[in-house]
Amino acid sequence: MTTSPNISRRQFLAGTGAGCMALAGAGFAQPAPQPLPLLPLTDLATQPQERLHLALQEGQHNFGSGALSRTFGINQNHLGPVLRVRKGQTLPFDVSNGLDEVTTLHWHGLHIPGDVDGGPHQEVAPGQVWQPDVPITQRASMNWFHAHTHGRTAQQTYRGLAGVMLVEDDDSLSADLPKTYGVDDLTLVLQDKSFDANGQLHYALSEEVFEEGFLGETLVVNGVAGPTARAVPQGWVRLRLLNASNARFLTVSLATGSVIVIASDGGFLAAPVEVAEITLSPGERYEILVDMRLQTRNSLQVTYGGGEAAGLFEGLWTRLLGGAAAGPQTALTLTQDPDLPAFTGTLPTRLAVLPPAEPELAQRSRSFTLNMGGGEDLAVLAANWGNICGEAGGMGINGQPMNMETINEQVRLSDTEVWRINADEDLHPFHVHGCSFRILQQNGTPPPAYAAGWKDMVHVEGGWSEILVKFDHPAPKEAPYMYHCHILEHEDCGMMGQFTVA
Ligand code: C2O
Ligand code: CU
Ligand code: CU
Repeated sequence: MTTSPNISRRQFLAGTGAGCMALAGAGFAQPAPQPLPLLPLTDLATQPQERLHLALQEGQHNFGSGALSRTFGINQNHLGPVLRVRKGQTLPFDVSNGLDEVTTLHWHGLHIPGDVDGGPHQEVAPGQVWQPDVPITQRASMNWFHAHTHGRTAQQTYRGLAGVMLVEDDDSLSADLPKTYGVDDLTLVLQDKSFDANGQLHYALSEEVFEEGFLGETLVVNGVAGPTARAVPQGWVRLRLLNASNARFLTVSLATGSVIVIASDGGFLAAPVEVAEITLSPGERYEILVDMRLQTRNSLQVTYGGGEAAGLFEGLWTRLLGGAAAGPQTALTLTQDPDLPAFTGTLPTRLAVLPPAEPELAQRSRSFTLNMGGGEDLAVLAANWGNICGEAGGMGINGQPMNMETINEQVRLSDTEVWRINADEDLHPFHVHGCSFRILQQNGTPPPAYAAGWKDMVHVEGGWSEILVKFDHPAPKEAPYMYHCHILEHEDCGMMGQFTVA
């Protein structure tokens, strides 16, 4: 690691520290747990299908500080619904833009053609309605949707343009697993947010923020500041976790016992994996099980950071804040309520049949290098092409900042490819649209068992990662797919490229 990122990280932390002191007065320090809010469920898996209206709107939302913040939401003031859908359905949407600014709505994780993907080319102007027919052809999985406007993804998503889509299929509906929404099957949107001295949502860009991504001091669960609490049945409880932070890696563990992971971004693992903790980058999803048969109480704990970068980060944080935010925080306390209907069955030992991930299957390979601190040339290009960090940054991939007019890669439909992603500095979560992939290696070693299944996010940490990916849906040059860093400020800054599939 070079010296300059360290210095800026320290400066940034000094700023955050000041914000935190102010917050103590606003009531976020040592808060009592709030009841866990649930995102409203729209269940299309078991009901007859109809056109679904998603209204992107402005609103006011109380994150738990007592103060109202100006937010964005989907069919509500902040965040969106959980859509439960079934493989085989085609979903007709009316996505209306009630904001004062252009936006888009991208279906992150869905295997759908480029022209309904909702990327930066499918802009919805204020007052307009976008009407994609979204075909669900993939296996059961937890996906999400969020704003993906060129140069504005970070701020629009941060203010609340994000929701969840749970795809179910015959296997998931018949699996011996907890599946009663809001009872023993809880969807948790985890985010870090920043609040000003009045307890209002804060977001600002600066050179440091472009470099690190925007990091908030407050952990927010389904739109309220943690800790949260919820009564659950005396049985197994399934937690579907989404890290919808702009830039924060979150390490998740339980206060008691290990984490049983059953699914990653793209669906079930081959078998449950038991680990002490899992790390979710921005954009990642994991489903875990908590055994509440014998214990009356357990807590989901979240530690900021992840990996090597986090080590440094936490070290500085500890020194500056006297350890305030370095340790695990309670995101959600589960308390056992024997009166609730419980799933007490035996967990399956096999969950899915995963084909072997063999690089020999690939017809070709490609290499991507994520660029940071690319110097003035890259910075000027980035600014010219509508990326927001302009002169401050100089980010790109393979020496090119995102350009809406340039197709960076062309992939043949139905081909399997090996993609190698390189990043000399820091930790970047890399995402590819329109597919699920398998992680082959991260810096020369296989991924942790819980990340060995279907994924659409891969960590690239001061080195390289390799994925095996097959493209089964078309994306024409008017509606290409994106690949990018999912630190949203990096993405908006130009660390993104476009590809066609034909
Ligand atoms: Cu979650 Cu291209 O995005
Ligand atoms: Cu995506
Ligand atoms: Cu990045």
